[in-house]
Amino acid sequence: MSIDVSEIGEIPAVWTRRHLLGLEELSAEELVCVLDAAVMFKEATGGCRQKLSVLAGRTCANLFFEASTRTRTSFALAARRLGADALDFSASGSSLSKGETFIDTAKNIEAMGIDVVVVRHRTPGTPHLLAQQLDCSVVNAGDGPHEHPTQGLLDIMTIREHRRELAGLTVALVGDISHSRTARSNIWGLKRLGAHVIVCGPSTLVSRRWEELGVEVSYNLDDILPRCDVLNLLRIQFERQSTRPFPSVREYAHLYAMNRERLARAKDDIMILAPGPINRGVEITPDVADGPQSVILEQVTNGLAIRMAVLWLVCGANLRL
Ligand code: CP
Repeated sequence: MSIDVSEIGEIPAVWTRRHLLGLEELSAEELVCVLDAAVMFKEATGGCRQKLSVLAGRTCANLFFEASTRTRTSFALAARRLGADALDFSASGSSLSKGETFIDTAKNIEAMGIDVVVVRHRTPGTPHLLAQQLDCSVVNAGDGPHEHPTQGLLDIMTIREHRRELAGLTVALVGDISHSRTARSNIWGLKRLGAHVIVCGPSTLVSRRWEELGVEVSYNLDDILPRCDVLNLLRIQFERQSTRPFPSVREYAHLYAMNRERLARAKDDIMILAPGPINRGVEITPDVADGPQSVILEQVTNGLAIRMAVLWLVCGANLRL
């Protein structure tokens, strides 16, 4: 079923960016603009299931140089839900293996009439480099440990759906903070909207320097747990570590995994988030991941709404320029 495009209207005047590179540079008004647009698209598409035609004639290209399930598929689906074409570029099997540079690859893809490039790369700053080199819009889908803006937005959207206001909430990000782009994007977005943010994990993964971003640092989940309204459980990113940051996974789970015993000591209405993929039994036990406090799959649905909103906003801003 297609919905009348006239119901959607023009992009709000507050949004002037043709790229989304990170949440660090977004004002509170811009954050709310994306969040409100995502709510609108979620409602207008019957929970992200129906199609619109607001981006008919546009093409969005996924350029993923790192593995992904949620982000890659939801950007492709979001483009299609808005009536755009979606192109999925895979680095493996491409002419990169023949020595073509990253920039040449991106410019050649753009030359096929692309309106938005969605890029994930292990090197921080890659989306910013592309934004300088390309005329189309660029969206950061994760640049190394730097930022993952749409993940931050979908996490905030999910909290906002349950609690309305971010101001006054205490949100703890628990786990592998040092390697987490999700942590950085959450911190920028949550703080700008008035939440108190705690980063918590072993000292090998959470440096005191995080305090410079205006967050509280804790090494003891049991100490902070009774104060938390929301826990966002971040995966231990073994693939980004040269040495193990703790003696054993069992010891990490003993100190930091969210399990039934810890849940019993938390606020009754605590929200449990995880960006995925989750390591069951490491940062979260299966009964908590699948239990009533978990909103993990709601996050995934909201990811589709956020990505529809972002594609619509950056395309609209690019048209105005
Ligand atoms: N949360 C997230 O970015 O998941 P993927 O790596 O599967 O995209």
